[in-house]
Amino acid sequence: MDYFGAIFAILFATSCMVTSSLAKDRNDLTFDLMEEYDKKVRPSGSYNKSVPVIFKLYLNQLLDVSEVNQKIETKMWVLQIWQDPRLVWDPVDYEGLEYVHLPTTELWLPEVVLYNNADGDFAISQFTKAKVNYTGFVEWKPPAIFKSFCEIQVAQFPFDTQNCTMKIGPWSQGMDLLDMVNSDWKVEDHKCDKPDLSLYKQSGEWKILAVGCYKHYIQYACCRGPYVDMTYYFVLQRRPLYLLINILFPTFLFSVLTCAVFYLPSDAGEKMTLSISLLLSLIVFLLVIVEAIPSTAKGVPLLCQYIVFTMILVCLSIMITVVVINIHYRGPTTHTMSERVKKIFMVWLPKFALSSTMKKLDPYAEKKLKAAKAPKLCNDITDFSGRDPTEGRHRVMGSDVRQAVDGVNFVADYFRDQEESQKREDEWKYVAMLLDHFLFFIFIAACFLGTLIIFGRRLMEIGGEEQLFLENEDKCLLNCK
Ligand SMILES: *[C@@H]1O[C@H](CO)[C@@H](O)[C@H](O)[C@H]1NC(C)=O
Ligand SMILES: *[C@@H]1O[C@H](CO)[C@@H](O)[C@H](O)[C@H]1NC(C)=O
Ligand SMILES: *[C@@H]1O[C@H](CO)[C@@H](O)[C@H](O)[C@H]1NC(C)=O
Repeated sequence: MDYFGAIFAILFATSCMVTSSLAKDRNDLTFDLMEEYDKKVRPSGSYNKSVPVIFKLYLNQLLDVSEVNQKIETKMWVLQIWQDPRLVWDPVDYEGLEYVHLPTTELWLPEVVLYNNADGDFAISQFTKAKVNYTGFVEWKPPAIFKSFCEIQVAQFPFDTQNCTMKIGPWSQGMDLLDMVNSDWKVEDHKCDKPDLSLYKQSGEWKILAVGCYKHYIQYACCRGPYVDMTYYFVLQRRPLYLLINILFPTFLFSVLTCAVFYLPSDAGEKMTLSISLLLSLIVFLLVIVEAIPSTAKGVPLLCQYIVFTMILVCLSIMITVVVINIHYRGPTTHTMSERVKKIFMVWLPKFALSSTMKKLDPYAEKKLKAAKAPKLCNDITDFSGRDPTEGRHRVMGSDVRQAVDGVNFVADYFRDQEESQKREDEWKYVAMLLDHFLFFIFIAACFLGTLIIFGRRLMEIGGEEQLFLENEDKCLLNCK
C-alpha cells in the first residue's frame, strides 16, 4: 500500500509540474518571443523577399523655418508598420493576450533616414516601444524632430511661399530588401500617403497651403538595385501681419513724411532739419529691423526693395530741398532769371497748380507798368517852371534846383532799384514755391505708386495662389483648426 501510495504521489507531482508549465501567463510572452530572436535578421520568409513597410508621417508642429540656413525644423510622428513572422503567437496560450509592447532596441527595425537632413540626426533617434500584435504586425510610431534642407525663396519676402520637401527612405537596403508602401500594402506602385495633419498645431508664422507625397524608385550610380524613397512636400505661406505692422507700415510712414518737407515753407528755415531728422530716424529704424530680413544674396526680397526705395526717396528729397532753398534765396545781384525759366515757371506751370489760393505772378505785368510810368522828374520841373530854360535869371536859380532835382532823382532811382531787386527776389521765391508745390504732389504720388508697384503684383498673386490651393487641396487644410 505504501508502495502504491508513493508511486501515486510521484505521478501526481509530475502531472502537476506538467500542467503548471503548460499554463503560461502574460509575463512569459515577452521571454518566449525574444528567446531565439535575432534582430539582425530581416523579417522575411526568404532571403530574396523584400519586407514591405507602411510608412506615414504625421506632421505635429512646424518649429522653425530658417531663411539664412535654408532649413526647416519639424516635429513629426513617424508611423511604420511591418510584419515580423517571428513575433507570432496564439492568444489562447497567453490568457488571451493579443498584443504586447516591446522595446525597439531588441527588434529588427527598418532603417529609414532623412536624405536631405540639414543638421542633427539623419535617422529616428527616439526608440520608443513598438506595439506588436499576435499576427506579427509591429506598429512603431516614434516622435522625431527633422531638420531638413529646404531651398528658401527670399525674393518675395515677406509675402513668400515656400515649397519644402523631405526625402525619406532606407539608406543601405535596396527595394529588393526593403520597400516602403502606403496603407494599402501595395508593393512596387507609386502610391504614397500624404502627411497627416490631424495632429497639426498651427504655427503663428506659417500657414500650410498644401501637402503631398511622391514615391520614387531611384537607381543611384553608386549602388546596385533601385532604392525606394518617399518625398513629402509642404507648401508654406508666410503670415505677413507681424512684418506688415512692424516694418512695412513704419517704412511707408517714413516715405509719406518725406513729402511733408515740400509743404514746409522755405522761409521757416526748418526744411533741412526735417529732412535730416527723417534720414537719421530711417537709418536707426533700419539698424533695428535688419535682423528680421533674411541675409542671403539669392535675390533681393521685396521688403529690401521697398526699404531701398524709401531711402532713395528721403535722400532725393534732401537733395531737392537744397536746390529749392538755393533757388529761394537767389537775387538779382547773383543770378538773372532767363526768359525761358520765367515762361515755364510763371506762365506755363501755374496753370497746373492744384491750389486755388496760390497767387499767380505775371512777369510781364511790370513791363506794361514801366511803359506807363511818368516821365523823368527833371522834365516835370522844367515843364513846371513854364519858362524858357535858357533864360539867365532862371539859369542861376536853376543850378540849385538842378542839384535838388538830381538828389530827388537819385533817391527815386534808388527806391526804384530797390523795388526792382525786391521784385526779382520775389520771382525767385515764387519759382521755389512752385517747385515745392509740384514736388509735394510728385512725391506723394511716388510714395503710393512705389508701394503699389513693389507689392501690388505679389499681393494679387497670393490671392490667386490661395484660391488655387483651396480648389485643389483638401479644404480642411486651410479652414479646419
Ligand atoms: C527567390 O528565390 C527563389 C529560389 O531561389 C525563387 O524561386 C523565387 O522566385 C525568388 N523570389 C523572388 C521574389 O525573387
Ligand atoms: C495587427 O496590427 C496590424 C497593424 O496595426 C493591423 O492591421 C491588424 O489588423 C492587427 N491584427 C489584429 C488581429 O488585431
Ligand atoms: C512642391 O514641390 C513638389 C516636389 O518637388 C512638386 O511636386 C510640387 O508641385 C511643388 N508645389 C508647388 C506649389 O510648387
